[in-house]
Amino acid sequence: MIKGFIFDLDGVITDTAELHYLAWKKLAEEMDWTFDREVNEKLRGVSRMDSINIIKNHNNASVAEDKLEELAAMKNDIYVASLDTMTPKDYLPGAEELLTHLRQEGFLVALGSASKNSSKVLEQLDAKKYFDVIGDGNSVSKSKPAPDIFLFGADKLGLKPEECIVYEDAQSGVDAAKAGGFYSVGIGPEERVGHASVRFETMKEATLFEVKSHFQDLF
Ligand code: G6P
Ligand code: MG
Repeated sequence: MIKGFIFDLDGVITDTAELHYLAWKKLAEEMDWTFDREVNEKLRGVSRMDSINIIKNHNNASVAEDKLEELAAMKNDIYVASLDTMTPKDYLPGAEELLTHLRQEGFLVALGSASKNSSKVLEQLDAKKYFDVIGDGNSVSKSKPAPDIFLFGADKLGLKPEECIVYEDAQSGVDAAKAGGFYSVGIGPEERVGHASVRFETMKEATLFEVKSHFQDLF
């Protein structure tokens, strides 16, 4: 029986992908590296250090580890400053309605994000009230596609994986949910999240009503 929901943040609750993109782009420009939206797509759901490694490899650059960490910190400063522009108007369409329904129906709700900036993003959105547990990039050491962040969330909610539905927009996030034995809702195109238990193009379609009708026997 489904008792809880675990949400990825970026690309599910709000679209920070654009702000991440602009921050990486600024860093790349300073380094004289190429970086475009196609490369940015590969960073969806991927941790900060893994992201900079992808960008570095895309440019065939060789950078010492400590310098790489310095660059990642520079990008993070740019990204965090840009979060100040975010307001409660910046939920993805449908996301806040879904979180409200889950509260009304008494489901347990956790965040399961790779971002170390999750708290700040939730504060900007005024979304902390919708979550019983916040699992973020500081909660576990192994990032998606390892299932650790979702297992952390389920454990803190006091639930088994098969009692939870994970919402994810990243390929590695759906992989992580599957690896942990969770049911999954994929948000986005078939080629990215087609391997989820059920897929919707956007959060707007992924309502509690639709999810309940898909997983009928589990409610
Ligand atoms: C999410 C985003 C990624 C981002 C990662 C780490 O998974 O989808 O694009 O790189 O979080 O975010 P952070 O805020 O810790 O740099
Ligand atoms: Mg995401």
